[in-house]
Amino acid sequence: MPGLLRQALRFRFGSLGGTGLVTLGPVVTRGKVVELRPPEGADAAEWSRLARPEGDRLEPRWAESDLDWVTRTSEAAWRERCAELRRLARDDKALPFLITVDGGIAGELLLDRVDRGRGSAELDVWISQAREGASITASALRLLLHHAFGEYELRRLTAAIPVGDHGAATLFSRAGFRREGLLRGYRRSLDYELWSLLATDRPEESISDLPIVSAVDVPGGGRGFERSSALQRRLHELVPGGAHTYARGSDQYPEDMAPVLVRGDGCRVWDADGNCFIEYGMGLRSVTLGHGYRPVLDAVHRALADGVNFSRPTRLEVAAAEDFLSLVPGADMVKFAKNGSDATSAAIRLARAATGRDMVAVCDQPFFSADDWFIGAVEMNAGVPENTRNQTVRFQFNDLESLRQRFAENGGQIACVVMEAATALAEPEPGFLEGVRALCDAHGALLVFDEMITGFRWSASGAQTVYGVRPDLSCWGKAMGNGFPISALAGRRDLMELGGLRTESPRVFLLSTTHGPETVSLAAFRAVVRAYADSDPIGVMERRGTQLAEGVNSAASELGVEHLVAAIGRPSCMVFTTRDGEGRPSQPYRTLFLQELLRRGVLGQSFVISAAHTVADVEHTIRATREALVVYRQALEDGGVDRFLIGRPVAPALRSLARPRQL
Ligand SMILES: Cc1ncc(COP(=O)(O)O)c(C=O)c1O
Repeated sequence: MPGLLRQALRFRFGSLGGTGLVTLGPVVTRGKVVELRPPEGADAAEWSRLARPEGDRLEPRWAESDLDWVTRTSEAAWRERCAELRRLARDDKALPFLITVDGGIAGELLLDRVDRGRGSAELDVWISQAREGASITASALRLLLHHAFGEYELRRLTAAIPVGDHGAATLFSRAGFRREGLLRGYRRSLDYELWSLLATDRPEESISDLPIVSAVDVPGGGRGFERSSALQRRLHELVPGGAHTYARGSDQYPEDMAPVLVRGDGCRVWDADGNCFIEYGMGLRSVTLGHGYRPVLDAVHRALADGVNFSRPTRLEVAAAEDFLSLVPGADMVKFAKNGSDATSAAIRLARAATGRDMVAVCDQPFFSADDWFIGAVEMNAGVPENTRNQTVRFQFNDLESLRQRFAENGGQIACVVMEAATALAEPEPGFLEGVRALCDAHGALLVFDEMITGFRWSASGAQTVYGVRPDLSCWGKAMGNGFPISALAGRRDLMELGGLRTESPRVFLLSTTHGPETVSLAAFRAVVRAYADSDPIGVMERRGTQLAEGVNSAASELGVEHLVAAIGRPSCMVFTTRDGEGRPSQPYRTLFLQELLRRGVLGQSFVISAAHTVADVEHTIRATREALVVYRQALEDGGVDRFLIGRPVAPALRSLARPRQL
């Protein structure tokens, strides 16, 4: 009989072998990742990693447990307990799991006294109250029920609940259990009630609501991309490029492996086929706190209920402006908008008006605006008039001489210098930013810092506070609203007032859009500011990013490809390199790497992380990367990707022709 149970498990999880116990989940609840792990791995090393996640302490309190905490707080006791659980599993007496929350052990969930003949088992749960016991237990329970009635083919589950434990009763009744009667003599000290759940009585939603993350874990398995591909084809019919942002286009992904998403939670996203991925990139770096971050959502819901767009400014605009200016000490005034491009373009117009000059010196960094003054300077510049293109000149980061030359060549014509003070891959050399500041002052040009990426990733106050150089104007966007559309232009009062009413000068049309002060995004921004004041998302991103870089880079070393594939850059904002056998950056190898990561549940054009990525998520990513690199190395040994890559390679987003990914 018990052998059958094991067989059922093997059938479902064939390749995993062993005892047949596998990790169930994860599911995400209240932004936390809940998993049911077999007790296998809980040896000494596992203990120290799992049981003491950073910034968290297990409390010596367990809900209604006759197993006292002390027996679990020492490593030796835990080892013993895990060995006991493993023994039970080996003898087919139980299916034991450790409940982990964000990678740390939070409790145990046990299907005990499994009787395969009757299809019955008893359910035991112990949970640390320190870890939001009720919601965690509810998630763990749903996860186990799904498998108990599904793969394990059980028909009846029972649970003994201490009389008067209303919390447990609520939890079990929500899961569909019914009170059957009183249990006498079950345990010495307390009276218990017997609760039970039949497979046939099980509420439907506990199956259909359950996101299962391991869907694309198995190479060649998973749920495929059929629905995503159909939706992508439809998108190409309806939307030029098949996406509303070029960087999100299907040509940025392996062919027929471009997931079309339906939802996200924390750092996880689900696609139309039901695949779940750990996401990197996080909405083009606009999400630092995770998808569906509760305090932001709560603020948004409150704002929504009071109306979104009015004929006059709202009180919220005062509060949001005050929040912003207290965060950015170098700025005297601020104006909000929707896109980063609006803000940088407004900075250019303001600089041109303030200086009476037309030209703009732009640093050779990837992107500043979707408007003509910048798009004229990229490869994909059809439709931008020649004379607009000629107004923009480029200079090199960390090369003061190149900027000096631009000033010399265009004497008295440059209105402003636009740049990011740093990028993920390039820190400013000592004296560089100060030198840029001095050159601007010497030539009467304004200095504009683009804080789109650095804001809320380097520091909530931007790169200008990190490096101590004050720009005349700065432009913000991306993570300001944790994904909600909000951007800002900020800067010196005397300049900003040119767009105001306290000026004698001709007025600058600074920023003025219908949706500029819409309340939802302002509320989101305020909640983001609070989150950064109350917690340390940047610290978390840096720690997780460092863990990821170390893991990925040591996997690359183990496989001897560290000179070709590496996670590089500032830990809160990393990218990866993908080079061919000759060490040249390679789109085909990049595509192969993306393909193999997608097959293993990682969606990432970069390794840009968020504060919602847990230690366990990063570990999953490292595992996926290691496996992807095995394929990568095989392709190198094979002399190319041809045998491994399905479809054409990706191509740069802003290229001038649709080729080589023309449809
Ligand atoms: C540094 C930088 N500046 C400006 C922008 C433009 O922002 P948006 O896309 O919100 O218009 C971007 C967008 O990627 C950016 O990366």
